Amino acid sequence: MPRLCIVTDIHHGPDTFTKKGAAAPRLMEGFAGFCRAEAPDAVIDLGDRISDSDPETDRRLAREAAAMFAPIAAPRLHVCGNHDRVHLSVEENEEILGQSLGHQTVDIDGWTLVLWRAETRIARGLGLVLRECDLTWLAGVVARAEGPLAVFSHVPVSGHGQAGNYYFQHNPDASTYPNAADRVRAVLATARVPLVWVAGHVHWNTLTVVNGQPHLTLQSLTETFTTHPEPAGSYAVLDLGADIAWTVHGRDGLHVRLRAADSVARWVAPLPRFEDHPEIRLWRQAAGR
Ligand SMILES: [Fe+2]
Repeated sequence: MPRLCIVTDIHHGPDTFTKKGAAAPRLMEGFAGFCRAEAPDAVIDLGDRISDSDPETDRRLAREAAAMFAPIAAPRLHVCGNHDRVHLSVEENEEILGQSLGHQTVDIDGWTLVLWRAETRIARGLGLVLRECDLTWLAGVVARAEGPLAVFSHVPVSGHGQAGNYYFQHNPDASTYPNAADRVRAVLATARVPLVWVAGHVHWNTLTVVNGQPHLTLQSLTETFTTHPEPAGSYAVLDLGADIAWTVHGRDGLHVRLRAADSVARWVAPLPRFEDHPEIRLWRQAAGR
């Protein structure tokens, strides 16, 4: 049964807004010690390893963040977040991390880990732009899957509400791929196998089940808005078997257990707007409303 340790949004660098970036080295020491004790099959970093400032500083911060993973013996899989891509290319991140950062699948004990490394660079005036090649690659993986899939990305695609989120309540379009996340969910809806999606980016813990499929987001290692004034110090363990078990450690804890098989069942398609549904209009007419 695959066991994974996951960390996200380390934001190594200066403190900014509610991010305690300066606490990242100390908190990553704790995470590395945790990984040594858990001996997971893999360690996954969901991106935003740094808070960006300029190309030279970002290169230094990215190297320092990469070095924080050095004490971890388990295989490491990294994903780039939007802050990793402001001043640094994917190739620079690859060189710093010593691994390819293209899309990737990894088979472990009957599960396929899907590293969906879609573009996370924020385009001026457009926000996060989902490339067609990212969507079609995922569609191919889902179509060919013969066993359960665990998908990992920086940006969530669940479409979950942002009420109360420090960054995104008033900036919901920046929390996902605006106008494209629904197309990703349409691809996922074609899955005939169990599936769970794990993302970072939104700096809070959530579980959103859409069309039968669970989407998790993990709190940032250094975020304080839910645990002010201390950083959440969050990292998670994901156990993949007949049950999907998700435990978030740190000040902002969470434990979720779901049956993997339940994620194969598709839900009844949502109603249209009541006023657009002819049967509901007939009821209302009959009732004189
Ligand atoms: Fe972030």
